[in-house]
Amino acid sequence: MKVRSRLAWGVAGLMALPFGTAQAEQAPAIDLAKSVARADAVAKQMSGDEKTVLTHGIMPLPFVPGTVLPEGSVPGAGFIPGIPRLGIPALTETDASLGVSWVGGLRKDGATALPSGLAQAATWSPDVLYHGGAMIGSEARAKGFNVLLAGGVNLMRDPRNGRTFEYLAEDPLLSGELVAAAIRGVQSNGIISTIKHFALNGQETGRKYVDVKIAEGAARESDLLAFQIGIEKGQPGSVMCAYNRVHGEQACASDWLLNKVLKQSWGYKGFVMSDWGAVPGVEAALGGLDQQSGEQLDKAVFFGDVLKAKAASDPAYAARIHDMNRRVLTAIYAAGLDRNPTKPGGKIDFAANAQVAEETAKQGIVLLKNNGVLPLAKTAKSIAVIGGYADSGVVAGSGSSLVHDEKGPAATRSLGGDSPFSALMQQSYHRSAPLAAIKAAAPAAAVTFRDGRYIADAVEKAKQAEVAIVFATEWRTEGLDQPDLSLPDGQDALIAAIAAANPNTIVVLETGGPVAMPWLDKVAGVVEAWYAGARGGPAIASVLFGDTNPGGRLPVTFPASLGQLPRPKLDGADWVEPNFSGDAEPGKDQLHSDYDIEGSDVGYRWFARKGQKALFPFGYGLSYTSFSASELKVSGLNASFTITNTGKIKGDDVGQLYLVNRAGEAKQRLVGFKRITLEPGAKQKVTVTIDPRLLADWKDGGWVMPAGEYGFALGKNAEDLGAVVKVKMSRKIWKD
Ligand code: BGC
Repeated sequence: MKVRSRLAWGVAGLMALPFGTAQAEQAPAIDLAKSVARADAVAKQMSGDEKTVLTHGIMPLPFVPGTVLPEGSVPGAGFIPGIPRLGIPALTETDASLGVSWVGGLRKDGATALPSGLAQAATWSPDVLYHGGAMIGSEARAKGFNVLLAGGVNLMRDPRNGRTFEYLAEDPLLSGELVAAAIRGVQSNGIISTIKHFALNGQETGRKYVDVKIAEGAARESDLLAFQIGIEKGQPGSVMCAYNRVHGEQACASDWLLNKVLKQSWGYKGFVMSDWGAVPGVEAALGGLDQQSGEQLDKAVFFGDVLKAKAASDPAYAARIHDMNRRVLTAIYAAGLDRNPTKPGGKIDFAANAQVAEETAKQGIVLLKNNGVLPLAKTAKSIAVIGGYADSGVVAGSGSSLVHDEKGPAATRSLGGDSPFSALMQQSYHRSAPLAAIKAAAPAAAVTFRDGRYIADAVEKAKQAEVAIVFATEWRTEGLDQPDLSLPDGQDALIAAIAAANPNTIVVLETGGPVAMPWLDKVAGVVEAWYAGARGGPAIASVLFGDTNPGGRLPVTFPASLGQLPRPKLDGADWVEPNFSGDAEPGKDQLHSDYDIEGSDVGYRWFARKGQKALFPFGYGLSYTSFSASELKVSGLNASFTITNTGKIKGDDVGQLYLVNRAGEAKQRLVGFKRITLEPGAKQKVTVTIDPRLLADWKDGGWVMPAGEYGFALGKNAEDLGAVVKVKMSRKIWKD
């Protein structure tokens, strides 16, 4: 395997209400369709030169060679000038789904970092995602941005994907419902949110040219369904297309994805913006792309004069230019960008926003193992805290989504390189130290800290303490995939040594996705804290000491080995030098990824099909109390069941309803879920309406539900299923 270059980074990289028991009010989704007529009328008034103003833009970053910051731009990911004559505002764009990104400190400001996408998804709570979206959207607005490049929703097809931390889940229903809520939250600030990266952008290795092959039905039932639900319920003003190729075409020029699926089949009314440096040529306009973003990263500015010249001689391009403008304007008007302009310098209540981040982290932490050691007693006398820079903060994922705190990172670990973008690839820690939070929670305890670099010394400290808590970090970044699922830097050996020295060893994982746990049998407890964001330290301590009863559930499968995956070896891992420019890669045209191996059976569905047992299955998570689920009834598309808290303390459970077989064929799909809070002894009836697409196959241009008996079961997780309830359904077919 070649040495991976970490230098060739090719991209730029209304106040939110804290929430808790009482649900703060949620704004409805915007209505794109209502603004089409006005957008059409204004687009018709555009003069020749005005017609290509909204169709392309730069990355307003002074360190990109040749870039002069235009008036009205805010240093961030993108800028599209407005047309004052027609009252059209400029688009000021910033990343991303976890908060307002940092772009190398250019704005000299900070922002509130939400926990990673996986941590958010582990809450299984659309409310949490809505409030997180509303919070980060309010900060974007206060900094002068009116487009937040949020809504990352690619399904986790491979647990080694370097951007897994930015995305949500491996399941289309969970991903779609959650991303829709986040988008509604962002757009409740009168700004536009994207949903991205459309579509099938499942790995970072060779990301600009990996060519994905997948049958239409399989795509519609999986990755595309997540986008479809997210778009229907979230109404994002914009869809960002992806870097990769699909059936030999760049996703940002894919007639199938953009025209046929998104615009014709789903009737999407907003606009498609490109990913940064993802536009192959002017013909992408005919493929359905409406706006060229970050144009310095492409070979040329295709959607300016080149597009104008094409439109002058070719009616197909002329029609597209009108449609492109109408679509950008539809999003602008529907989100209210013209009525409610943004400008930098708005006030941000960082203390209130930190509470939103902390609540999200608390609700997303997943308790994976507990032999009774947790929750820790606040009267503990001695605790050894080891590793993970727990004295400084919690790790964050890197790349364009990296958010820096108000006072900057607590610590960074450089990966070297002198590219202007290499700072975005630094490993960074949010200023929220678990060590301080543990000391605060157990004031009488003697708490020692060792960074874990010297195993024998850390073991010595672990031996002297009642409890040892090892913090293990697994950092990921946009642009690179993980070579395997091990914890880096010898942390597996450190954990094994500490566990051998102290029977009360607890591992707190700060990972960007699934990891292997060769030491699992030896430790007393495991807590998956993900990338826990701006207030990760207190959130982790709150779970460790029982102030928060963990209610998070895994949104992805943790495999027992790489051999269980559809692709035990990542495509391109052997020979591709990750170079984000995508140029001059030997053999780049030969990098293919065959998603037909698993088809729509992504994650737990693949495991069910193969009869494989995961290390930890999708939907898994323990609590300090216990629950039972009963009385499952299914009638048509309506299901109900009852959850009872059978333990001694208040806690949250996530009701999970799965299809387990259909018309005589084993088939597992999550068809409904609901997170609820219950007092000890209390019970609640939960109802869910099943989206028929989850019961159907996509065949010959439409959805098909075969006639027959459908089996449903409640699951504690995807592997631990209750009694099957059978329902007869008649054959149904329909179009989107
Ligand atoms: C990423 C996008 C991001 C864009 C702008 C790209 O490299 O893939 O997610 O929004 O850069 O920074």
